[in-house]
This record gives sequence, C-alpha cells and structure tokens, in this order.
Amino acid sequence: MEKIQGVIFDLDGVIVSTDDCHYRAWKRMADEEGIYFDRTINERLRGVSRMDSLAIILERAEKNYSDEEKQQMAARKNAYYVELIGALTGEDILPGAMNVLCWLKENGVKIAVGSSSRNTPIILKQIGLEGYFDAVADGNQITRSKPDPEVFLLAAKLLGLEASRCMVVEDADAGVEAALAGGMRVLGVGSAKDNKKATYRAENLEKVDIENIIG
Ligand code: BG6
Ligand code: MG
Repeated sequence: MEKIQGVIFDLDGVIVSTDDCHYRAWKRMADEEGIYFDRTINERLRGVSRMDSLAIILERAEKNYSDEEKQQMAARKNAYYVELIGALTGEDILPGAMNVLCWLKENGVKIAVGSSSRNTPIILKQIGLEGYFDAVADGNQITRSKPDPEVFLLAAKLLGLEASRCMVVEDADAGVEAALAGGMRVLGVGSAKDNKKATYRAENLEKVDIENIIG
C-alpha cells in the first residue's frame, strides 16, 4: 500500500466535542416548534449538513414547512449553536487529538480538516487551532454533504496530494462512506469505532497507534 502522506480530520467528534452543543441547539429549536427530538435521532445527524439534519428532524413534524420557514428554523438553530460554541476552549479538544496531530507534524505528514460544518472557522479559533492545519475544507466550500466525498477530495487537493495518499479520521458512518467513496483510507473513531467498512478502527485518538498506521 502507498505510504500515507496526509491525514484529513473530521472536526466535530474527532478533534473537538461539539456533539452536545449541536444536540442542545436542535433540541431548543425542536421544542419551540413542538417537534419530538431525542439523542437517538441526534445520532443520525452526525456528519450530516445543517439542512439535511433539519430534514431528518422534520420527519417527526406534524405539519409541512415552507422552504422559507425551513431556512428560518436552520438559522435559529445555528444562532443557538453559535451561542453555545462561544464557550469552547482548548480544553474541549478531545483526548489524544493533540498528541496525534503533533506526531504527524513532527513526522512530515500533512494535516487537514475536512468538516461539513460551516462553523469550522469559529470552532478552530475557539479551541486555539486557527492556522494550525496545512489545509481546511469545510461546509462553506462544498455543495454536497457527506457521504459524498466532496469535502475530503477538496482537502486532499488543498494539500496537493492524491486521494490514495490520504487517510481520513471520522466518527460518523456517513464520513466513513465519504472517505471510501473518495478513494481514501479511513480510521473510524468514536461512534464509527465499530464500523466494519473502516480501514482502521480505534475507540478514540488516545487509543490509536498512529505510528503503526502511518509506518
Ligand atoms: C458536522 C456535524 O460536522 O457538521 C453535524 O457532525 C452538523 O452534526 C454539520 O450538522 C453541519 O454543521 P454546521 O455547523 O454547519 O451547522
Ligand atoms: Mg464528526
């Protein structure tokens, strides 16, 4: 197998724990609308774009919403979310993430972010990693959400690497699919730790033997 020259990290659930902020923001919006929403449904939103997430939430709605109403609901959720992520700090970086990132940097492996989130720039700034990655591809630059590989292909392009030279780190099944569809290897962590399709699996970045994977 070709040596891995670049690692593309999903952001939410891989580098930083924003899961609860997403959940609380959607929950507030859903409660206001009288739409049933719980943490099980929330799991389906992992890696999925804002509007696609809203579509999943609206499966439980008792009325139809116009496109304009949907845009307003998504904007309202985002305002709640932005309020919550305003409290993020470097302490919210997930265990093991900094060690893996530092090891890769020290060993000449390029690092990128590949996230569906349009809030990626705000989050990176909050956790003190603005300007830390060699490339950032996020929801602001793409039109197709994971499981489409667009965001990872863009990250690889920005790194100047062939897809076959890149490995993605993902916590979402949709992200594992996206990486494989893009012709990349993928390390599943967190919620994707048992995903059989992933090339490599680890409970989290603290437990991963990155040296062994990169070689
Ligand atoms: C992903 C999250 O990283 O970003 C999803 O896993 C979220 O839950 C998506 O819906 C889009 O996020 P944002 O910040 O653009 O609303
Ligand atoms: Mg994720």
